[in-house]
Amino acid sequence: MSQPFLISFKPEISLQESSEENQLVIQSPERKLTFKKIHPNLKNAISSLAEGNSTLSQLLDILQQGEEKYPILKFYTYLQKFSHLGWLCHSVVESQQPMAMAIPMGGNFQFSYQEITPELPYSLSRFAYSHQVGGKMVLESPLSQTKILLLSWKSSALINLLAKPQTWGEIVQQIPAIAPETVQQFLSLLLTTKMVSEVLPEGKIQEETNMNLMQWEFHDLLFHTRSRQGRHDAPYGGTYRFLGKIDPLPGVKPPMSEEVIKLEQPDISNLATTDVPFTQVLERRKSLREYGETPINKQQLGEFLYRTGRIKKTRQTERGELSERVYPSGGGIYELELYPLVHLCEGISAGLYHYCPQKHQLCRLSGATATVTTLLNHARITMGNASNPPQVLIILAARFQRLAWKYQSIAYGLLLKHVGVFYQTMYLVATAMDLAPCALGAGDSDLFTQALGLDYYTETSVGEFGLGSKK
Ligand SMILES: Cc1cc2nc3c(=O)[nH]c(=O)nc-3n(C[C@H](O)[C@H](O)[C@H](O)COP(=O)(O)O)c2cc1C
Repeated sequence: MSQPFLISFKPEISLQESSEENQLVIQSPERKLTFKKIHPNLKNAISSLAEGNSTLSQLLDILQQGEEKYPILKFYTYLQKFSHLGWLCHSVVESQQPMAMAIPMGGNFQFSYQEITPELPYSLSRFAYSHQVGGKMVLESPLSQTKILLLSWKSSALINLLAKPQTWGEIVQQIPAIAPETVQQFLSLLLTTKMVSEVLPEGKIQEETNMNLMQWEFHDLLFHTRSRQGRHDAPYGGTYRFLGKIDPLPGVKPPMSEEVIKLEQPDISNLATTDVPFTQVLERRKSLREYGETPINKQQLGEFLYRTGRIKKTRQTERGELSERVYPSGGGIYELELYPLVHLCEGISAGLYHYCPQKHQLCRLSGATATVTTLLNHARITMGNASNPPQVLIILAARFQRLAWKYQSIAYGLLLKHVGVFYQTMYLVATAMDLAPCALGAGDSDLFTQALGLDYYTETSVGEFGLGSKK
């Protein structure tokens, strides 16, 4: 059966005609195709794609009009090219009202039409989700290269039913307000775009039997596909979308309290010649979860923070303040803040502190409150239920907007990469200093923001690291 959908160009594609040379230009934001001395039937078919009011068989009829017919096979090659460029949308229409439109995201794409079998049950993928974008409901899935605009309540109602396996006939019975052919078209559109799958005889859909897909959680796969290129059409990379609209955050966070503890500075040039050789540090590095009886002291904590987190230099640019530190960071942006939570440290009383990387000092934020104690106990449990909590828990928080002001699609992905980079820097410095390091893979960001009275969306914890004297 021929595809029943209306086929149209994406809204961002425009046509420019010049009658003198009988020329037609198709222009997308990324590409331009020029047809010289274009056949009138081909021009009409392409214009119809721009208007979006024809099915495939209607387009073929246009090509066959008049004396001089346009070769259908040649048109198919163009259609395939447009499809490959990700230019073609497919719509289901009911009673002349658009019900759903499938829009490809990105190029290198083929709309391989699959028709449902009326007797078989179909079910929605657990990866499919709908959300509101610019006043429209959109159905998306990290399994699909296509997004579907849900343009009427009817399409949303059908999606709702498909949470459980349904045959075409069962759906038609439950929603008689939608014509049976429309239900069939809509189901075929969902099948073609990988939003639904056929339910297998054992009652599962293919993604539930595929061992690789089974191990992807919804949020992990969505985050992966949305923060990498290939399966979405969102702007990507350093786009500076807030330039001129919102001021970027300062490169260095202003002091968080007046209760300041100045830290000593190690002699870096001396360390550069006397320190443990690099290969020994790399080879000796281990995660240690037990601590010595004599705790870490203020001088050691100061040296550790100086060698891992201090600012060496700041630089004002037209696009905000950047800095240079020991560890690398995308764009020199450095969104991570260090909050040492001191349990036992000679010379520094227990409590929560913020490290100022420019002045190399701690700002005291609170004592060992109940929330601070809970954070410490969580860390102990996360470190394999260790007998004692870390002597110092270094909590990493991110001023997320520093990254999001510049980067699009990749901001959170970058942030997590930075946490990894900084973890390794802390591991290496702690090993060189003969201290006990251990990275943590989980923490409670709500509890952290509560402990500090921070706004979760402005600054939130993204990593934790246990530190102490070696046993
Ligand atoms: C990102 C990351 C998260 C980790 N999370 C934890 C954790 O939650 N609890 C823990 O005890 N160790 C954690 N570790 C330490 C690993 O268990 C440890 O690196 C691994 O077992 C290899 O041992 P090694 O570090 O001694 O070479 C983590 C390490 C990394 C890099």
